[in-house]
Amino acid sequence: MKCREIRDSFLGFFAERGHLIMPGAPLVTDDPTTLFTVAGMQPYIAAFRGEEKPPAPRVAGIQKCARMGDLERVGRSATHHTFFEMLGNFSFGDYFKQGAIEYAWEYVVDVLGIPREDLWITVFQDDDEAERLWHEHIGVPLQRIVRLGRGENWWPQERWEGPCGPCTEIHLDFGPGVGCGRPDCSPACECNRFVELWNLVFQMYTEAPDGTLTELPAPGVDTGMGLERLAMILQGKRFSAETDEMWRIIERTIAIARDEWGRELSYGADPEVDVALRVICDHARGAAMITADGIAPTNEGAGYVLRRFLRRAYRFGLDLGASGPFMYKLLPTVAEVMGEAYPELRERQE
Ligand code: ALA
Repeated sequence: MKCREIRDSFLGFFAERGHLIMPGAPLVTDDPTTLFTVAGMQPYIAAFRGEEKPPAPRVAGIQKCARMGDLERVGRSATHHTFFEMLGNFSFGDYFKQGAIEYAWEYVVDVLGIPREDLWITVFQDDDEAERLWHEHIGVPLQRIVRLGRGENWWPQERWEGPCGPCTEIHLDFGPGVGCGRPDCSPACECNRFVELWNLVFQMYTEAPDGTLTELPAPGVDTGMGLERLAMILQGKRFSAETDEMWRIIERTIAIARDEWGRELSYGADPEVDVALRVICDHARGAAMITADGIAPTNEGAGYVLRRFLRRAYRFGLDLGASGPFMYKLLPTVAEVMGEAYPELRERQE
């Protein structure tokens, strides 16, 4: 499935199951605690807390997100990006653990056709109910269900005063031939054998700075699945930057190098060239998305992140032989490949 087909299929699946499809929020927020939207649930914080009426008891959407914590891993790791798209479904006091698990399994196995024997599950260490649902109700063998602690199966990882709760994740197993090779390897391992596909958060509490948990007025569901890594899996690629939309940006960079810098670059021949091409691709998308939200490069805030993207992309571009400004030449390609899902890229291209 192409990225466009994944977006349509995900939204169609949840629309058919009674979810209101919501447009995403802007990437650059006016929330004083975060510069960027970092998760699909962010526009719904007040709804989870019972302070605002949710748009419907069940909604779904695709949210543009950015996280800077993995900046140094972008281009080197298979799946990390600064800008990414999060597919998510949400319930506000409507369905809870069973519904969230049933929908996610049905979508991954029946719609996407990912073999069930390649899927592993993690649950929060005390969540007997989630484990029981996965094992008895869905039929996942206990050997492929792993209980993990607060660092892995609680969202968010870092304490905040917003909604939080235990989570359960679906992981894809690339098989024993990938990664550390240890017989006891599981999604708890840091090697690359497993990739986290979908995080289902059971929003139940808010947490005070001293760790006291207060129950939300109604338990809810908040799920997040990264479009880029799902596309990587479905398209059989080794890096998410090699999937159809990002690949066009890489091809455009290679064309600029040939036509304007006199360099014949080929992807797959030199690992450092590949890293540079993937970094430039990531930063071109991030820079385009931030700019489309009306931000210009500055010395602080979101504008500083934009500036940093441009500077880093040029630094990697110099390694490829860049002889002048080039990031603006990637913008039309970004707008072309992502403009259907994000019309602001086309409307504000100039
Ligand atoms: N809020 C959850 C996440 O960002 C789904 O992973």
